[in-house]
Amino acid sequence: MAELAINGGTPVGEKFELVSWPLRDEKEVRKVVEVTRSGRWSYDGPKEAEFTKAFAEFIGSKYALAAANGTVTLQLALEALDIGFGDEVIVPGLTWQATAAAVLDINAVPILVDIEPETYCINPERVIEAITPRTRAIIPVHLYECMADMDQVMEIAGRYHLHVVEDCAHTHGSRWRNQGAGTIGDIGSFSMQQSKVMTSGEGGALTTNSEELFHKLYSLKNCGGLYTDEAGSHGEHVQSGNYRITEFQAAVLVCQLERLKSHIDQKDENAQYFSSLISEIEGVIPFLRREQVTRQSHYAFGFRYNKEVFGGVPVQKFCQALSAEIGLGVSGPYEPLNNCSLYQPHTKKRYRISDEHWKAIDPRRFSLPVAERAYCEEGVLMSHQVLLGTRKDIESICDAVVKIRENMDELIANWRSQR
Ligand SMILES: Cc1ncc(COP(=O)(O)O)c(C=O)c1O
Repeated sequence: MAELAINGGTPVGEKFELVSWPLRDEKEVRKVVEVTRSGRWSYDGPKEAEFTKAFAEFIGSKYALAAANGTVTLQLALEALDIGFGDEVIVPGLTWQATAAAVLDINAVPILVDIEPETYCINPERVIEAITPRTRAIIPVHLYECMADMDQVMEIAGRYHLHVVEDCAHTHGSRWRNQGAGTIGDIGSFSMQQSKVMTSGEGGALTTNSEELFHKLYSLKNCGGLYTDEAGSHGEHVQSGNYRITEFQAAVLVCQLERLKSHIDQKDENAQYFSSLISEIEGVIPFLRREQVTRQSHYAFGFRYNKEVFGGVPVQKFCQALSAEIGLGVSGPYEPLNNCSLYQPHTKKRYRISDEHWKAIDPRRFSLPVAERAYCEEGVLMSHQVLLGTRKDIESICDAVVKIRENMDELIANWRSQR
């Protein structure tokens, strides 16, 4: 009789009742109705002001701005730092394609570097190796459930006079030595797209401690217009487009931020409990949580799988088996950007600025062995929603991993039969 659920056996625990995402209730409805009735629907309205003030307070930055999404926020950040054609920007090879695409879109060259095996975040040693006289900035991405090593990133940036834009699309509210992610580098960039830990369906935000950068970012996101307050207008007109959000989105974000504040610690506790249990199981390794991380916000959570301990069974099959046991989607990390179906710089004529540039933006020229191993062989990830459940839910997932390990012969047989 089959034991493993993937072979028709009984799943390890009760079926998960995942909270419906995004979390929402009448508060969001009331705020959106308020905006509708007010007739003030576009930018610079009271809801946007309320949201950006609260977001800056939460993140711990002097300034925050709301923008259309977490892709254009990266572009605007780079443009505010006066980066463009002829410049290189160092980006981790394992991230959502937007991190590198934003560099392409400002006519700079994304330089892909490998990640650390323990966190899947940018590897500072690889950053140093990639620095050239053209390098202007580093974009560390705080990925899934880890923060990039910001001590090292900032030390390197200082040593080589580089800017730092933190891609915080996965990490609203994480803290490094009690300093908010998004306030350590020059600018922080956040996404509020549907799957993110706080969302308005689409949306983004920028944080900075520099008044000058704040004024530049404002102009860049608002067609070149000047930031204006009681003291008058600030900064200089620049060429730009419309990257604003609406009052409807800002209204939803006001509620979503309150909600995130109410559950960020519960999620982090559950994630740490999960890591402590997982670290006891042979063949699976939790992601490294550095002692500098004083609070982690989780966009996903999981572990690294060692197929040697699981009879050589590929991680994809293991994910299927785990998914069958717990009734939840279990998947791997992003495709590394040197071979990613959604990162294809050579399909856009606009990037053919010169032959040299065209060659430089070819992602296949970068070697990313650790990112490739993470994607092909190791990474096991689940949605952050699970962390809103109970300790018992967390225990069930770990029980499922143990059960699969104890019934490895069945897993191997299933894999061989489908090869
Ligand atoms: C790491 C990272 N950076 C940037 C983005 C872009 O954000 P958006 O989808 O809001 O444009 C995402 C979106 O998933 C992301 O995961």
